[in-house]
Formats: sequence, structure tokens, C-alpha cells
Amino acid sequence: MKHTNPRFLFVASIVMICFATTGEAEESGAVSPRDLQAKINYCKTCHGVNAQGFRGAYPMPRLAGQQPEYLENQLQAFVERRRTNPVMFNVAHVLSPAMLKGLSAYFKDLNPKPLGGGSKELAAAGKKIYDEGVPETNIPPCASCHGPDAKGNGPFPRLAGQLYDYIEKELGNWTRERGQDRSNPDNSALMEPIAHGLTAQQISAVAAYVSFLE
Ligand code: HEC
Ligand code: HEC
Repeated sequence: MKHTNPRFLFVASIVMICFATTGEAEESGAVSPRDLQAKINYCKTCHGVNAQGFRGAYPMPRLAGQQPEYLENQLQAFVERRRTNPVMFNVAHVLSPAMLKGLSAYFKDLNPKPLGGGSKELAAAGKKIYDEGVPETNIPPCASCHGPDAKGNGPFPRLAGQLYDYIEKELGNWTRERGQDRSNPDNSALMEPIAHGLTAQQISAVAAYVSFLE
């Protein structure tokens, strides 16, 4: 066999299973609008009524406006424990594949005002890092992947309006929380050298900048 990559075999076997059970999968795979809405309401108890996030002792990230593909990847990462978070493991591992897809698509069209956070004075330095990177330490411009307006694209998440506190925590803890299954590397590897290469001060600045973006 030409393709010995385990991920290819995995995908191939899923495709085969789907073909084998198409009729059944269609029936059991659908989510009623009522069930979807009930689940969305549950997500909003933590992520905010408009999915704008919540700034507490433990920040609840904004989901509003987020890229569906990124959201789906993260929910799967929590289930597979590639991304470790006990709360979100419990939330995500009970979701059916159809529910997971429905939820991931839902948040894209929400557009509440950003909660912001961080220091407005630092935001100008943050914009420079966002647009130009930090050439001296080989940090590429954030804009090259997250987009000039920080709205993201597919697997590249939106950062605009994300909570300052949450971004700071994520960038500071990258390798302790993401990419936790070394045998199954994922998109988090792209961000790893960047998260590591930023100083605490640079993180504060860039997190402040994007937290105010609409
Ligand atoms: C009990 C509170 C709680 C509930 C309910 C909850 N979440 Fe979360 N969620 C969190 C916390 C806390 C985090 C941050 C995890 C971390 O720090 O890594 C998070 C993170 C996430 C992330 C990662 C966001 C990112 O930008 O990477 C996604 C996606 C997510 N939640 C989706 C959902 C969905 C969909 C639901 C409803 C089915 C939901 N959450 C319900 C607390 C909750
Ligand atoms: C080479 C492309 C690339 C560049 C450049 C890049 N990122 Fe990322 N970033 C990603 C990818 C891909 C992810 C999603 C990782 C995943 O799926 O686990 C990500 C995720 C993130 C997250 C987590 C978002 C969330 O909702 O949890 C933050 C924060 C972040 N990047 C900040 C930055 C900052 C700040 C810069 C610039 C200093 C930057 N990124 C530059 C590719 C990039």
C-alpha cells in the first residue's frame, strides 16, 4: 500500500464506515433545531449570553465570530485529549458528530462588542507585533495566518475581540495544554514556536491589541 501514514488509514477507514452505513447515519446523525438550541443555551451559561466570553478568575473564551473549522478542531482536540482541559473534555465528549458540527457553525454569525481587557497603552506596540512580527527573534507577523483584520480563516482562529486574559493564558501555557498527543500532531504545532518565542511583555501587548478589535 502506498499510503502508510496512520492518519490516511484513519480517514480511509472512516470513509468506509460512512459508506457502509449511509442510510442509518443520516437518520441518527441529524440534530433537531430544538436540541441544538438547548445545547447552545448551555454553552452560553459559561461563554456568555452572546458568546462574548466571560472575564472571571478563570477566563471563558469568546466563541462569537469564531471560524467553524477551528471550533470543530478544538472540540475534537478536547475529546481526544490533544488539548487538555477537564471542563471542556466533559462538555465535548458527549456531543454527537452532528451536534459538534452544528455547534461549530452556529457561533460564526454572532458579533457582540469585544470585552477587551489589557492595557490600551500597550495596544500600539501590540499592533506592530501583529502586523510585522518580531524579525529579530524570527516571529512571523500574526496577520500572515490570522488575517490582517484578525478574523481568522478556516483552521486559523479569529483573534479579534478575544479576551485579553484568555490569550495571555493560552500563549503562556501552549505546550502544557495543546499538542498533548505526540503520536497525533495537530495544527497547534504551527503556533508552538511562536508562543514560545514571545516574551511575556510581547504577549501582553499583542493580547491587548487584539482584545479591542471588533
Ligand atoms: C462549565 C463551563 C463551560 C461550558 C458549559 C462550556 N464551556 Fe467551552 N470552555 C470553557 C472554558 C473554561 C474554556 C477554556 C479552556 C482553556 O482554558 O483551555 C472553554 C473553551 C472552549 C473552546 C476553545 C475556544 C478557543 O478559542 O480555543 C471551545 C471551542 C468551546 N469551549 C466550546 C464550547 C461549546 C460549543 C460549549 C457548549 C456545548 C461549551 N464550550 C460549553 C468552559 C465551558
Ligand atoms: C504560521 C501561522 C501562524 C502565525 C504566524 C501565527 N499563528 Fe496563532 N495560530 C495558528 C494556528 C494554526 C492556530 C490554531 C492552533 C490549534 O488548532 O490548536 C493558532 C492559534 C492561536 C491562538 C489561540 C486562539 C484561541 O482561540 O485559543 C492565539 C492566541 C494565537 N494563535 C496568537 C497568535 C499571535 C499573537 C501571533 C503573532 C505573534 C500568531 N498567533 C501567529 C497559526 C499561526
